[in-house]
Amino acid sequence: MARVYIHDLEKHVGEEVQLRGWLYNKRSSGKVRFLLLRDGTGILQGVVVKGAVSEEIVNRSDALTQESSFSMTGKIRKDDRAPGGYEMEVSDVGIISIAHEYPITPKEHGIEFLADRRHLWLRSSRQHAIMRVRHRIVKAIRDFYDGRGFVLVDSPILTPAACEGTSTLFETDYFDLGKAYLTQSGQLYAEAGAMAFGKVYCFGPTFRAEKSKTRRHLAEFWMVEPEVAFNDLNDDMELAEDFLEYIVQTVLKDCEQELKVLERNTAMLQNVKKPLPRISYSEAVEILHQKGINFEWGGDFGGTDETVISEQFDRPVMVHRYPSEVKAFYMKRDPENPKVALAVDVLAPEGYGEIIGGSQREDDLDVLLQRIKAHNLPQEAFEWYLDLRRFGTVPHAGFGLGLERTVGWICGLEHVRETVPFPRMMYRLTP
Ligand code: 4AD
Ligand code: MG
Repeated sequence: MARVYIHDLEKHVGEEVQLRGWLYNKRSSGKVRFLLLRDGTGILQGVVVKGAVSEEIVNRSDALTQESSFSMTGKIRKDDRAPGGYEMEVSDVGIISIAHEYPITPKEHGIEFLADRRHLWLRSSRQHAIMRVRHRIVKAIRDFYDGRGFVLVDSPILTPAACEGTSTLFETDYFDLGKAYLTQSGQLYAEAGAMAFGKVYCFGPTFRAEKSKTRRHLAEFWMVEPEVAFNDLNDDMELAEDFLEYIVQTVLKDCEQELKVLERNTAMLQNVKKPLPRISYSEAVEILHQKGINFEWGGDFGGTDETVISEQFDRPVMVHRYPSEVKAFYMKRDPENPKVALAVDVLAPEGYGEIIGGSQREDDLDVLLQRIKAHNLPQEAFEWYLDLRRFGTVPHAGFGLGLERTVGWICGLEHVRETVPFPRMMYRLTP
């Protein structure tokens, strides 16, 4: 018997095939049992008719409980009324394993209850839709850079020093060499890659011991970081807007079904086309003042500030030239105004906040040395990085896009915890 997957059923109409999977739901009406089998690629309704099959097969159908694993054999017919458009006339049912009292039932459950059972929650249709969108975004990210001649240069996860400030480092013992830190960003290594290959990206997990419980923060998240030799801040912003347009338009085209399951209103997403609006930090502060928010020039924006700023635009907005005091040590200062860094943050609409952070990098050895000192960073750990300025330094720029925040925004989710298979947060390390 040919074993097939539900997403391939259109090729098997009229054939007798076997499906294997789990019982999503079932109901019965008189002599008929309806078994909803999910196999990960979709859900198919099997129709078991008493009298048309042996008593044994009806009994097996009745024994199946929610999430029991089983095989279902029968002829596929097209039926526009059936969920998914196909149905199976069941001729055989084989029990693989009966599930006892599956804890997640179709009724409403609290978020902590579900989060504790994340390993099972992933089986539900909403989580399926989110994970498929995530998968599509990851592929779009790779396709975008691979198609433009960027080389993937992976950065290490265990590192000797901080990249994004010392207050959010996860620390671990490293053999006889002292402490190692889980990377906060692959950027410094991507810069070495850019000096070797011109255009590179790294894409992997990053870590922040961030003591914040907001809907935007994870302790472990994925970041894609392009880095390009000879790019300035302007080039960096152009790359970011091309990139965002590509990701969003690809998901709109390929994930229509998933976005429907998530009841995502896609009107704002349709707008994500370049050019994206660009405003300076000072102009953003101006907006806050106009909206009656008491904000002092020089500080970093909080979540609410970002929401207010982004609400003024119908697509993501690029905010550039932040005060260098609130930004990382490696950012180049604007030669026209040394109080600000050649930095850019992209704020997503609809309150999703910062999804991209980037900058032109400090390419002058002496200035960079001063910055490392001013930030109280250990110079020895950065000697290799300083070498990039000693041996053929050039202007260069890059940015990092947070995958989970991007998935949350595109899917229209309340919280980033649903955007990753197994979220790591201040109060959650399991399952
Ligand atoms: O702005 P960040 O800290 O930038 C960097 O790490 C740079 N080194 C990137 C670069 O220039 N190559 O982080 C970049 C993005 C943020 O805009 C956000 O989307 C995401 O990473 N991010 C987080 N996502 C989830 N949870 C957190 N705790 C995050 N912190 C940052
Ligand atoms: Mg940032």
